Amino acid sequence: MEGKNLQGKLLIGHDDCNTSTNESLEEIVAERLNRRDLMKLSAGFIGTAFFGSFMAGCNQDDSTTTTSAAASAALLSFTPVSKNLNDALTVPTGYTAKVLYRVGDPIKLGVADYLNDGTDTDFDSRSGDCHDGMKYFGLKADNSGYDTTNSTNGLMCINHEYINQNYLHTVAEVAAINNAARVPSQVDKEIAAHGVAVIKVSNTGAGFALDKTSGYNRRITAATPMHLQGVAAGSSYMVTPYSTTGMDTRGTVNNCANGYTPWGTYLTCEENWNGYFKCDTRTGKEAVAFSRYGLKTTSRYGWDSVYTQWLATITGADATADYRNVPNTYGYVVEIDPFHPTSTPVKHTAMGRFAHEGCWPAKVTVGKPVVFYMGDDSKGEYIYKFVSTQNWDAADATGGLTAGAKYLDSGTLYVAKFNPSGTGTWLKLDISETAIADYTTYDFADAADVAIHSRIAADAVGATRMDRPEWGGVHPTTGEVYMTLTNNSDRGKSGKYGLDPANPRYYTDTYDTTTTNKGNVNGHIIRWKETGGEPSATTFTWDIYLFGAQSAVDAGGDDAYYQANINVSGLTADNDFSSPDGLWFSEASKGLMWIQTDDGAYTDTTNCMLLAALPGSVNDGATTDITSLAVPTHGTTDETVTTYVGAKATTTKLKRFLVGPVECEITGITETPDGKAIFVNVQHPGEDGTTTTLTSHWPDFGTARPRSATIVITKNDGGVVGI
Ligand code: FEO
Ligand code: CA
Ligand code: CA
Ligand code: CA
Repeated sequence: MEGKNLQGKLLIGHDDCNTSTNESLEEIVAERLNRRDLMKLSAGFIGTAFFGSFMAGCNQDDSTTTTSAAASAALLSFTPVSKNLNDALTVPTGYTAKVLYRVGDPIKLGVADYLNDGTDTDFDSRSGDCHDGMKYFGLKADNSGYDTTNSTNGLMCINHEYINQNYLHTVAEVAAINNAARVPSQVDKEIAAHGVAVIKVSNTGAGFALDKTSGYNRRITAATPMHLQGVAAGSSYMVTPYSTTGMDTRGTVNNCANGYTPWGTYLTCEENWNGYFKCDTRTGKEAVAFSRYGLKTTSRYGWDSVYTQWLATITGADATADYRNVPNTYGYVVEIDPFHPTSTPVKHTAMGRFAHEGCWPAKVTVGKPVVFYMGDDSKGEYIYKFVSTQNWDAADATGGLTAGAKYLDSGTLYVAKFNPSGTGTWLKLDISETAIADYTTYDFADAADVAIHSRIAADAVGATRMDRPEWGGVHPTTGEVYMTLTNNSDRGKSGKYGLDPANPRYYTDTYDTTTTNKGNVNGHIIRWKETGGEPSATTFTWDIYLFGAQSAVDAGGDDAYYQANINVSGLTADNDFSSPDGLWFSEASKGLMWIQTDDGAYTDTTNCMLLAALPGSVNDGATTDITSLAVPTHGTTDETVTTYVGAKATTTKLKRFLVGPVECEITGITETPDGKAIFVNVQHPGEDGTTTTLTSHWPDFGTARPRSATIVITKNDGGVVGI
């Protein structure tokens, strides 16, 4: 995300727009099955050798801890990094971190060096701001196309999620910003600093460097033409003056996490796009939709004062005469072909419209559908899955955007329901579903309406409201799916969402001895295995892999209660963390998982971090009761939820690998195919500073303004990073 999760003033875009009344614990507790019976049942569904590694775990008594064969094959071989508040990037002894690509760095020849004083222009030819999700694609040695194995020559696709206005403009310009009347040249700079970069990087022996001579280098910005494809493309909802056919739009914004496809393309995901538009007040269905998507009558940056594209108000005779519909063209998974620099990015509407965090593929199997997992990062929002209509054909492995159209424009969108029994169901979001067709809150007209308003369709079918779904990943050997739930200040007794087994914690945490945070303060990571090991299955079994927490209770707290109910995963000083956000599996080291934090609750003690993990498998831990204490103003009785907790986090299976500089978020991670270099993004260091009072000078130090940047980390002995 972008700054200030719990502590802060900002909380931009993570709106609390879910007003549905979907499942509370009270409503669904009657569904509870006997846990042991359930485990026997689910084990019966598993028949393939592929899943043999966790069958043992499923057949065990719930209290037995087991380890998957896949996970135990690797070891975390480094010494954990200590928590710290330094304005520095700390990695373990034996590793080297090098800055590769900072905001403002030229990506083309002939572009002036970055002055970093607010006077720079030409962001179409520079690194954008606020680096986020990214992916390394191997490039053939002669630079002629995709080579999945090349670890010294590659194309990087890097999201530039948003901007830090304080550091993008001069001191005087920042002081004079007025959203009602923005200066056009400043808006142009901000639009160009958003979006995605494609850059060529190569390592000729001295470490990776950006190759400014490459014709692949390009910026995709908040002004770049995009095609709309899939079920909602060409519908009346998409008609604008820019595209009276509703088949095109311009720009992508708030590109948060990412994904990639088995056919060699990059997926960038539009997260908090709603804040970029100045809207008017609508009536009827549109009023319901605008509220549910957090569209407001004020815009975040005031771009609407310069360009009507950002002014979503009804002023003309119809939708071809004003931009009333433009918000409907945002909120998608966007596909980019890095190997074809003149190709037009595509927004895939069949994958649904929400605050897309990222889009992660399941492993493909020839003759079976292609499956992607997605999170909607707002409080109380949902986890989704897309299953293609077309079955995978290995001949499409370098198919580019043509394959994208084949697999991503026709399929079924599902939303997750986590049952208290430990099973789950994927609920279909289709106009033919009775719950959607008959939904009284919103009268769905057609399939395009369902795709554009997936959140409302998910309300209708009764999906489970989660604690802000962020990144996900599929374990490369077990096929199990992991997703971070970063935190939720509205969960539990102080908020609008009740406790449930998949979102079971409510507590109070003290920050800096002065402030208290309430809710699921530190977040957790949920995981599931699809029935039969089939990514396209419509049922699954889940547990909670890991709970974030500080390892020691705050001063004055009840340690026995704290360790049993808050630090449920048994974190220690070597691996405690808060607000998991980025989550990513290394393909090279088969089973090594990386966790990145975007925290505002434990930052009185440590800057944000990267941890390495060797997760086991679903139900390798124990059924656990978690008790939330009574709060005088919100209830006089304690509340206990029974849930399923993964094996405790021993230091051999979870270690802190990196701590970032002051006020940063660690987000975005990718690797070379051999796993010997990983790339990590440091977003918004010094974000609480002002133009005149800087709180960080990373990475240039001295008196420099702070800069978001991509770093590359290698092991000094040339080995695979992390193990
Ligand atoms: Fe852009 Fe959900 O973090
Ligand atoms: Ca976040
Ligand atoms: Ca994020
Ligand atoms: Ca604390």
